[in-house]
Amino acid sequence: MDQKVLAKQISDRLLAKIADFVYQRTGIRLSPQKKALLSNRLRRRMRETGHKSFEEYFKYVQSIDESDPEWDAFLQEITTHETFLFRDEAHWEWFQDQFLAQLAKDARTGKRPRKLHIWSAACSTGDEPVTLACCIAAKLPNAHLWNIRILATDIGVGALEQAKQATFGTRAMGRVPEEYRKRYFTQLDDQRWQAKPMLTRWITYKQHNLLDPMREGPFDLVVLKNVLIYFDVESKKKVLAHVTKAMQPGAYLLTGAAEGIANIRGPLKRVYPWLFQKPGS
Ligand SMILES: C[S@@+](CC[C@H](N)C(=O)[O-])C[C@H]1O[C@@H](n2cnc3c(N)ncnc32)[C@H](O)[C@@H]1O
Repeated sequence: MDQKVLAKQISDRLLAKIADFVYQRTGIRLSPQKKALLSNRLRRRMRETGHKSFEEYFKYVQSIDESDPEWDAFLQEITTHETFLFRDEAHWEWFQDQFLAQLAKDARTGKRPRKLHIWSAACSTGDEPVTLACCIAAKLPNAHLWNIRILATDIGVGALEQAKQATFGTRAMGRVPEEYRKRYFTQLDDQRWQAKPMLTRWITYKQHNLLDPMREGPFDLVVLKNVLIYFDVESKKKVLAHVTKAMQPGAYLLTGAAEGIANIRGPLKRVYPWLFQKPGS
């Protein structure tokens, strides 16, 4: 084997230590198969911070607290931020045609107040909360008379800073229906669009680790997509307990199709493989 290549990679022992540290802090299970990728990514951080070995850099990361910018830079290298507007068509069809339609009907018949509180948990760069706002603006009659709040959280401060800009590139905008694009976005140049204030006024961005209890709520809907796939069963259970507690009776939990929570969903009722409901109303 090429010694030079070996020397450039994290040792298995150190990888296990880093994986354990990341797991304790975030719930994410780092896959040993990603050793080469992780080595490359951490080498980038070593260059930036002037550390000469993986060991030295990891000691430094262990010594800083979570408000240190390097903690966020480290997190950015180990987490996946992949997201885009209107990701998973079926979810947005359900949200617009069933969830919002039922909500409007219940408010019209006096069954519920005109209040809608949603939590977009692990929102990455903000594509998901803006999609929620787009659908509400398009489909909820008299939305201006409603008390609407979308809490958008992520563990990554850098991702949230980007989310607050509410600016999206061609790829992220790819699935936005043409009509919505025209009505709810301002085109900044031929590659960038910005969500209008009529959408962003509903959104509050906040840093939050899913392993911690959520102090706000209760929410009528929690959107928790494409993040539990990186967690093991114990962390998933912990997150689900916090999320369920933050949900209003009768509220929905919208997840990714492959989050693996069907057998650990506790009191939540399964509606679709990606949709769960808290009992009561
Ligand atoms: C792949 S993105 C998902 C974005 C969006 N929900 C979607 O489905 O398009 C995963 C996000 O989870 C966040 N994340 C990872 N661990 C987290 C934790 N413990 N608490 C909160 N967010 C976390 C990452 O920072 C990343 O932005």
